[in-house]
Amino acid sequence: MEKTLILLKPDCVSRDLAGSVISRFEKKGLKIVGLKMLQLNDSLLDEHYSHLKGKPFFAGIKKFMKSAPIIAIALEGLECVEVARAMCGPTNARKAAPGTIRGDYSLSVQSNILHASDSLESAQKELKRFFSKSELFSYEKASFASIYSEDEKKG
Ligand code: TYD
Repeated sequence: MEKTLILLKPDCVSRDLAGSVISRFEKKGLKIVGLKMLQLNDSLLDEHYSHLKGKPFFAGIKKFMKSAPIIAIALEGLECVEVARAMCGPTNARKAAPGTIRGDYSLSVQSNILHASDSLESAQKELKRFFSKSELFSYEKASFASIYSEDEKKG
């Protein structure tokens, strides 16, 4: 099953929006298969944002991304790379439509709440960057039937 990487950025964590954003992915039906809080450093950021090296805003994003811890999430689901990107909305949150995460929670380009991998190839690379094999999990989503079957047997 396809997997993608989400990073809840420092603005998301410090504005107490992490739960709301995670909940949106859960409600959509995407499965959380990895999750951890971490403090980013220069070497991880140089690698993660290597495609932006040389841009005038590069130093600014690095400073912002180190300003508070982030939450890295591995999501799994059908076509989840494309689905998660669509849920984020475009990079410039002011242009993001209401109903998207950036559209609902931000007015900024830099402080735009979250990162989501932009292709299957990036997702595979980025997941390896943030999660070891033992930090990614495989489990079945619960159904009410399976949750309550033991209680029903006991009467
Ligand atoms: P990018 O990878 O182009 O966008 P996305 O995160 O939507 O995949 O850019 C990475 C981050 O860099 C982006 O989320 C916010 C920041 N950024 C700026 O601060 N200014 C800019 O002009 C751009 C394009 C990005």
